[in-house]
Amino acid sequence: MSVTPHDESFMAAAIRLSRRHLGRTATNPSVGCLIVKDGVIVGQAVTALGGRPHAEPQALAEAGEAARGATAYVTLEPCSHHGKTPPCAEALIASGVARVVISVTDPDPRVSGRGISMLRDAGIEVDAGVLEAEGRRSLAGYLTRQTKSRPYVTLKLAVSADGMIGRAGEGQVAITGPEARAEVQALRAETDAILVGIGTAISDDPLLTVRTPGLEAQSPIRIVLDPSLALPLTSKLVATARDVPVILVASEQVWPLSADAEGLPPSVLADYRGRATGLDPSFEPPTKGEVGKGRDPNSLAPVSNKSTSGNVAQGASPQPISPLVGEMPGRAEGGTAPADATDLDSRRAALEAAGVEIVYCNPYHPEILLPALATRGISSLLVEGGAKTARLFLEAGLVDRIQLYQAPVTIGADGIESPFDATDIPSGFAHMGTRIFGADRLDEYERES
Ligand SMILES: NC(=O)c1ccc[n+]([C@@H]2O[C@H](COP(=O)([O-])OP(=O)(O)OC[C@H]3O[C@@H](n4cnc5c(N)ncnc54)[C@H](OP(=O)(O)O)[C@@H]3O)[C@@H](O)[C@H]2O)c1
Repeated sequence: MSVTPHDESFMAAAIRLSRRHLGRTATNPSVGCLIVKDGVIVGQAVTALGGRPHAEPQALAEAGEAARGATAYVTLEPCSHHGKTPPCAEALIASGVARVVISVTDPDPRVSGRGISMLRDAGIEVDAGVLEAEGRRSLAGYLTRQTKSRPYVTLKLAVSADGMIGRAGEGQVAITGPEARAEVQALRAETDAILVGIGTAISDDPLLTVRTPGLEAQSPIRIVLDPSLALPLTSKLVATARDVPVILVASEQVWPLSADAEGLPPSVLADYRGRATGLDPSFEPPTKGEVGKGRDPNSLAPVSNKSTSGNVAQGASPQPISPLVGEMPGRAEGGTAPADATDLDSRRAALEAAGVEIVYCNPYHPEILLPALATRGISSLLVEGGAKTARLFLEAGLVDRIQLYQAPVTIGADGIESPFDATDIPSGFAHMGTRIFGADRLDEYERES
């Protein structure tokens, strides 16, 4: 049977459904599933909060006997392996569905192609690749972590009519209006982690949480690139670190053991890269609570086993992440290390006492930081500036999507210039669309693969 416009409509509905739990299914993808019999939806589900149960068994349970002879629409290839749940492909076979329509095949080597083969071997008709581009977009975090061993990175910037992102020495300057800000809150809610540079953390004193009523528990982990532990102890980030996790990415120069360190453990980098690929079938990624989201996805209670300061890849003993081959730890670009070690120790102690996690990984090397975040289960990262941090990620080629808000306000001569505007979007990005929020305009760009 060939793919029909009806198939595309039902798949579009399954993709919309899948987006409901984005950012809330730990390391599992948020998948949508519809069971359709004679043109009527008899069962539907999205991957449960925390990642289990998967969408298929829930949708089949809702459909009951009506699933016999029906068509299942699934946004991601059904799993074929025995993990913490039995294979979804087996559940589909047992239910008696006649046809399965899939948007995206799973790159997980434990599943890839095998889910489809199991279904076909059982005599079920399978069509894959339906609305694949849209399906891929909805699964972008999961797919990027699986195939690139790093989170999917969105860079969001708000630019004034005169091309500025802020005003020097003036803290937060309102550039966009309330409608755009509400949209950014929704984006934060579906993202695992949010990152800013220390310049922004100091000048804006932001909270970086989700404050939309009903979504407060979905605040992302907050990460600050802070080479020399300059984040003020009086900042809102520090004050709220026990409620929503804060991770400071500090230079190896301020690592407490750096004075004793004769080089670095050579295994550190290899270890997390190997684990991050997901190629090791024994590797069970941590749940979102374990990665430091700070809240059990199913409850408002803080997670008790919050990780302690240390290697961002391993979340354990305080060791820096290995530098790239050929580079020495503690490069000058790693920030201004405070001269006074006692002061540094007391700052570190005060930050940790406030619940802040400190990891030691050259903040100027996102190509090292991102795989380390992926091993902690972070599949999506929102980079919210400032200008230098945006440039750092763009120059490293580690931005997958740009969200550029353009507002009618003017900042003037003392403004901080945006690294780009709509007239000079970095090369390699395709314009995906424009949306209007009040007086502001949002243009979205995706990296061309
Ligand atoms: N409109 C938007 O979308 C948006 C979003 C976020 C931020 N912003 C604005 O962007 C501005 C900040 O951008 P930015 O490019 O200056 O910084 P940033 O990218 O947030 O942070 C990185 C830079 O902060 C500087 N910095 C300032 N104080 C520091 C300290 N005590 N220790 C270490 N580094 C320090 C460092 O610059 P040096 O290496 O030169 O010292 C560092 O490279 C703020 O005005 C903020 O309001 C706008």
